[in-house]
Amino acid sequence: MIAPALYSSGSQRDHWGTPPWLVERLLRVGPIILDPCSNASSIVPAKYVFYESDDGLKFDWDSPEDSGVIYVNPPYSRVKQWVPIVAEEGVRLRKKRDTILLVAARTSENWFRPLWSADLFVFLHGRLSFLAPDPAQSKGAEPKKTNAPFPSVLACWSRRPSEIHSAFYDVGAVLETALPF
Ligand SMILES: C[S@@+](CC[C@H](N)C(=O)[O-])C[C@H]1O[C@@H](n2cnc3c(N)ncnc32)[C@H](O)[C@@H]1O
Repeated sequence: MIAPALYSSGSQRDHWGTPPWLVERLLRVGPIILDPCSNASSIVPAKYVFYESDDGLKFDWDSPEDSGVIYVNPPYSRVKQWVPIVAEEGVRLRKKRDTILLVAARTSENWFRPLWSADLFVFLHGRLSFLAPDPAQSKGAEPKKTNAPFPSVLACWSRRPSEIHSAFYDVGAVLETALPF
């Protein structure tokens, strides 16, 4: 049974989990050090996690590890709040670690603008099938899958472009930005 607190706020979309195949690709980039917006049913194997009750936006996302991935799949209804903070942390920490943000590929939205500071984008082919936690689900049951009605993109702040290319080259279009940030 998923903890009822999981549904304390936002719509069901806010809790959509990363599918296993994408977790496997992220791990090809490196170990996931931090997931700042996790939940009780997440399969993202991050060393450090923050839940809504902690408020992952309040914390410094740096940690003692010299490298590793910060992976962020923010609550859908609060993307405007999360995007500028993820972009700021991505720029600040990019010499040391890889910050990878999963959002809808809505490049014309105002909230998308801070993301152009990323070093690479992976425009994922097709539409993602997210894991949809269901509070009525019995313990141990496979989470239901739900198809996103939009395309998705990974914005990556990283000084290791070849690792990003080799992790994702066959699941999306990997584009490197040429901006001198
Ligand atoms: C889209 S889900 C992603 C879960 C997991 N990271 C994954 O990718 O499978 C986002 C989760 O962030 C949590 N959340 C919402 N606001 C948060 C906050 N301020 N701090 C930490 N977590 C938060 C919600 O409970 C929600 O389930």
